[in-house]
Amino acid sequence: MRKKVVVGNWKMNLLRDDAGHRIGQLKELIGAKCGTECDVEIGICPTFLSLATAVDASRGSLIGIGAQDVFWKESGAFTGFLSASMIEDAGAKYVLIGHSERRGRFGKLEVPESTLGFFAETNETVNLKLKAVLGSSLVPIVCIGENLSEREAGDTDRVIGEQMAGAIEEVDASDLARVIFAYEPVWAIGTGKVCDSVEANRVCGVVRQCLPESVRDVIRIQYGGSVSPANAQELFSQPEIDGGLVGGASLKPEDFMQVIVAASSV
Ligand code: 13P
Repeated sequence: MRKKVVVGNWKMNLLRDDAGHRIGQLKELIGAKCGTECDVEIGICPTFLSLATAVDASRGSLIGIGAQDVFWKESGAFTGFLSASMIEDAGAKYVLIGHSERRGRFGKLEVPESTLGFFAETNETVNLKLKAVLGSSLVPIVCIGENLSEREAGDTDRVIGEQMAGAIEEVDASDLARVIFAYEPVWAIGTGKVCDSVEANRVCGVVRQCLPESVRDVIRIQYGGSVSPANAQELFSQPEIDGGLVGGASLKPEDFMQVIVAASSV
């Protein structure tokens, strides 16, 4: 039985005080509901600058803190980047890799076309980042998902297959066991258009088939894209869906708590 894992991705939101305050609120809610043990693993990924504050605020709770990106080099002349060991050093547990908003595939494209190269994550850079993170104690959360035109062209499974093959190339099956994958259809992110639970379950099954047989049954696969208190239970009760990567709803501790409870009750 895979333990459900629910992680909030706060994206580019909240200053440090507010981040710390909301972690404190969530800590209280979790404590009141679950005490010191919970059958759901819980994480929050604030901005890099709020990592230390969030780690402090989460002490003594069941909340693990994560970063939203990482660079694959250990150190050196890489202005503006952070290595896995720096994120580890900040006290983090998780790190997101290959989020669609870093692959230049914003759900709501609000940036000029000419700036898209800035978000130029590829399957190859995802692979480099995954390998670097697996050399640390961090738990990688690797994001994959098709965009709307790929879905409409009937290309979903091919895109997922390519993203998965690229991400895990040359990674040992034994290392993969601690990786979490997050299926996030780009068209469902921040749009309120959640993927139908049966279809989300089917694609999570496709993701699972891309994994080596020896670890296929132990690896957790989350769904992400407009997860809310209203739809979480339906999604998490699907057999291939092992929890959620939650954007907007994770910013409100009460809503995020309801999503956690939904994962716990299925
Ligand atoms: P929303 O839950 O806001 O759609 O965001 C999903 C997401 O991108 C999480 O990484």
